[in-house]
Amino acid sequence: MTSSPSPWPVTRFSRLLDLRRPVVQGPFGSGLSSVDLTVAVAEAGAVGSFGANHLDAEAITALVGDLRSRTNGVINVNLWVPLPGEVDVRVGADEVAGFVAPLRPFYDALGVAVPDGPPPAGPRYDDQIVALLAAAPRVVSFVFGVPDAEVVAEAHRRGVVVLATATTVEEAVALDEAGVDVIVASGSDAGGHRGAFLRPVEESLVGTLSLVPQVVDAVAAPVVAAGGITDARQVRAAFALGAEGVQIGSGFLATHESAVPDVHKDALTTAPGRHSTVLTSAFSGRLARGVPNRVTRALADPAVPRAPYPAQSALTAPLRRAAAAAGDREHASLWSGQSAPLGRRMRAVDYLERLDAELAAVGR
Ligand SMILES: Cc1cc2nc3c(=O)[nH]c(=O)nc-3n(C[C@H](O)[C@H](O)[C@H](O)COP(=O)(O)O)c2cc1C
Repeated sequence: MTSSPSPWPVTRFSRLLDLRRPVVQGPFGSGLSSVDLTVAVAEAGAVGSFGANHLDAEAITALVGDLRSRTNGVINVNLWVPLPGEVDVRVGADEVAGFVAPLRPFYDALGVAVPDGPPPAGPRYDDQIVALLAAAPRVVSFVFGVPDAEVVAEAHRRGVVVLATATTVEEAVALDEAGVDVIVASGSDAGGHRGAFLRPVEESLVGTLSLVPQVVDAVAAPVVAAGGITDARQVRAAFALGAEGVQIGSGFLATHESAVPDVHKDALTTAPGRHSTVLTSAFSGRLARGVPNRVTRALADPAVPRAPYPAQSALTAPLRRAAAAAGDREHASLWSGQSAPLGRRMRAVDYLERLDAELAAVGR
């Protein structure tokens, strides 16, 4: 029996990690990744990712052990590099009431008590990175900044491949100069937080079709295209722009193995034409792309008070949890890229096989 040739191109990126499909399942931070999805994608010969920004060192060690026990495929664990000043963000007890006031109607609608104390500090990046490098998954990836030279050197000593995300050409060049192995060029079509780190997000919104070829021209490292890539036409376009791999977020977020609640999967797969997204800082204090609802509309005016990241994220966490549990679309965070409606609710492996078939049909 002869097997049909792979419809995927062989690239520097696919060779580096010995991938059957040069696809990265985008990491989902803050509790939205699932081990089942990471494992399913890794087993399918692509990169299975897990967003670990919310985990402490001990949990990161346990996570990598868990992933390793379930797959020999390529796993990637993702961290958020702190932006300047972020680690010092402290919201005082006296400020909490002011930040919570605009959220109170939403908490009341769900019958959940508003947070009344300052949000707890999250895990420290400096501790996370030590644990992550010691655990040494096949790939580590970063967003919101350039990993330190020592981090890149230590990863390489351990045989770990380093990916990092750029939202502009300038950021991509900084990552290339830092010796990152693969650059994820994330266009502003993408779902979730905008990872800009050199200039404000508002000055860093470059669509994928514009960003990818300019990054490819500017850096030596292989480029993985991200943002708005959900079906095979878009995959093919990304390769035509010079990308050597694709990172897919929203498409995988809708799959059965993904951790997001049904209300979120429904919002992702709303029919094209009825689906829209906005950039909002309402839920986390930092701009991220998602489906608009009552919460994003109420906080659309920047004059409405909100805490800086990560405090706002902690202040909205009980609201988001309650809304997800109740299937309440108006108060849940519904992160989504602009191409999400081109995805389907199906198993991750079926989604990848559908891409194979569509790619074969549209040609390489
Ligand atoms: C819910 C959600 C959470 C995300 N969290 C992270 C994260 O923690 N780290 C990261 O590097 N990228 C994160 N991303 C970006 C994705 O990994 C991916 O690059 C992006 O979704 C690609 O765009 P698409 O949604 O249009 O496919 C997130 C995206 C979504 C939708």
